[in-house]
Amino acid sequence: MKRLIPVILFVMTLVSSCQHTDPGRETDMDAKINALMSQMTLEEKIGQLNLVAVGFDVTGPIVSENVDEKIKQGYVGGVFNTFTPDVVKKMQKRALTESRLGIPLIFGYDVIHGHRTIFPIPLGLASSWDMEAIEKSAYISAQEASADGLNWVFSPMVDISRDPRWGRVSECPGEDTWYGCQVAKAMVRGYQGDDLGKDNTVMACVKHFALYGAAEAGRDYNTTDMSRLSMFQDYFPPYKAGLDAGAGSVMTSFNEINGIPATGNKWLMTELLRDQWGFDGFVVTDYTAINEMVPHGIGADEYEVGAQALEAGVDMDMVGEVFLNNLKKAVEDGKVSEKTVDIACRRILEAKYKLGLFEDPYRYVDAERAEKTIMSQEHIDAARDIACKSMVLLKNDSQVLPLKEKGAIALIGPLATNQRDMIGNWSGAGDWKKAVSVEQGIRNVAGDKVKVLYAKGANIADDEQMIQRLNAHGGNLDIDSRSSAEMIAEAVRVASKADVIVAVVGESQGMSGEAASRTDITLPGQQQALLKALKKTGKPMVLVLMNGRPLALKWEEEHADAILETWFAGTQAGNAIADVLFGHHNPSGKLTATFPQVVGQVPIYYNHKNTGRPFGGDLFDKYKTRYLDVTNEPLYPFGFGLSYTTFDYSAPVLSTTQLKKGESMKISVTVSNTGNYDGEEVVQLYIRDLVGSVTRPVKELKGFKKVFIAKGESKKVEFELTTDDLAFYHSDLTYAYEPGAFHLFIGTNSRDVKPIPFEVVE
Ligand code: BGC
Repeated sequence: MKRLIPVILFVMTLVSSCQHTDPGRETDMDAKINALMSQMTLEEKIGQLNLVAVGFDVTGPIVSENVDEKIKQGYVGGVFNTFTPDVVKKMQKRALTESRLGIPLIFGYDVIHGHRTIFPIPLGLASSWDMEAIEKSAYISAQEASADGLNWVFSPMVDISRDPRWGRVSECPGEDTWYGCQVAKAMVRGYQGDDLGKDNTVMACVKHFALYGAAEAGRDYNTTDMSRLSMFQDYFPPYKAGLDAGAGSVMTSFNEINGIPATGNKWLMTELLRDQWGFDGFVVTDYTAINEMVPHGIGADEYEVGAQALEAGVDMDMVGEVFLNNLKKAVEDGKVSEKTVDIACRRILEAKYKLGLFEDPYRYVDAERAEKTIMSQEHIDAARDIACKSMVLLKNDSQVLPLKEKGAIALIGPLATNQRDMIGNWSGAGDWKKAVSVEQGIRNVAGDKVKVLYAKGANIADDEQMIQRLNAHGGNLDIDSRSSAEMIAEAVRVASKADVIVAVVGESQGMSGEAASRTDITLPGQQQALLKALKKTGKPMVLVLMNGRPLALKWEEEHADAILETWFAGTQAGNAIADVLFGHHNPSGKLTATFPQVVGQVPIYYNHKNTGRPFGGDLFDKYKTRYLDVTNEPLYPFGFGLSYTTFDYSAPVLSTTQLKKGESMKISVTVSNTGNYDGEEVVQLYIRDLVGSVTRPVKELKGFKKVFIAKGESKKVEFELTTDDLAFYHSDLTYAYEPGAFHLFIGTNSRDVKPIPFEVVE
């Protein structure tokens, strides 16, 4: 008991003087932290750098042990994978009352696309092109997570990726850098709000720093080797945008970058992140990423790599306990200085201060708020609305969609009655049993007006070993006892009794996400064989796709009558899908990642370079950059997505065709809804810089507006462009625009646009 008194007194002194609105807050923070650190032993400081995992969702080979004991000793700075007010309170209490200095713990979690109310996977969220909706999903996640004991989320993930083989494309905003920046900002705003100290905001963590999405061959954790120019031009900006928006933390990535693992990369984490970008939050590693520097081959043992990671700029060690086990000796040996440990410790304590944890360590444990907030009707409604917004209509011949609310629907496919996969991978604390299946959604929306005839038709996958592996990590795939031929025959019989086929096909959630790369990105198992058989019935065939990455869907594009990309749409998936299928919501999503015709085209992305031998489409033109067997065209380009209505674009009007520094060019275009439904359109603006001191991409997204236009009406959509929007990195990494000839494009996707010339003059 004797030991407790100074602890409680100390926390109380902090409480009385923590004024979040006080302009002198920084100074106050410094004073508190100085006072605290002056009492800390080296071991306790190192303890603050230790992040342990307790609970669920282990994503690496090591799990944290003896956590309670370590908390008592002051050897734990933060905990993740643990939530609920009760559990967090208990653990926090242990830190406050049983450790010598009573420093509160920070509680983190992978809240990636929702905490308990689950939204579409991030690639789906990005497809909404609706920054308010994206921000709202993060805001709701923050409400729920913060009521559930958490104050730190490992999101946003803003790795740019051009490789759909990589399973983690499901977690990222897509292939475009500028667009990725908008998503990064929206997410950070949603999580952190305007005051991190409030009880309903959480600290964001921008990840994975850096270049994780450029892993060679799309294989997870693989090497990244890249020119500095590409890093700065194409990959870094979304991380920076998230940090500039105020994200309090950043997570290192698993990959090496040009020979140095990111987690031990001083150039990356100190010169770039701190010195150039001025980031003042803290850096946490990815799961055991310091330990992994040993097999990377950059240090002989954990003692060496621990010192290297700290010196490089890491503040917190996730799970690996390399810091905990090695830094004391490294300081004693003079391999790292105590000052470096102090800097890292201070950053962690600052984060805790900013979160208000010194003021009220139990700020985020409120059982009553949790009860009211978590999965409230308001959140469920938002999840349904946002899920509708994320869906992309890829094809709709003869207006098969929207479906009529009458007659019989043959609902076929392994994902039609599925709940588990609806919430996707990285589904936080989401409970898949609360997810709405497509079958249920159709019944909820169309009730007795339609007759639903169901057949499974195929398994999601038939490779038994793969299924076992997926099930070992949270999947619940099964293999039907019937043969594929029997299942298909049943589906065909069912389909022949219906007016329309709705085939719900795709991947299982575990086929994308971490450690889920695929070399074959077509529909897995016998699903295409099923579709081929269904096609022969002659009934109109609508595909409802579920997948965590762009798929290669050449046959499906040629033969299905309609295709709706629904990603993994979250808790309300089935209701939202039914809303879209029956036309209660007119789809307006657009792809943010290119869909290839075949996997061999990968990496394929819209903002590629022209090369010296661009291919013009003539197959007899031999010496061009092309394949012998497939054209260079994607199946669906970046920015692509249809609507139930049609939009016509007027010729864009430019306020000037000569843009000067300090002036702006206004561009307007009139978009008319010429179809039969009210609808939203994402009007996209691209530019091309024709000649540069370094070569420039054939197109670059520079703006978009999502507008609602009632049927029969038109809207004038305006953009403004300045020379700042045209800046790019030069080979010496300076950033500036260059005068010369440009093209401007405005349209409905990155492909179906025409160039309008303009000039940038001195
Ligand atoms: C992932 C991170 C995640 C972390 C903690 C890692 O395996 O790469 O994205 O935040 O685990 O669960």
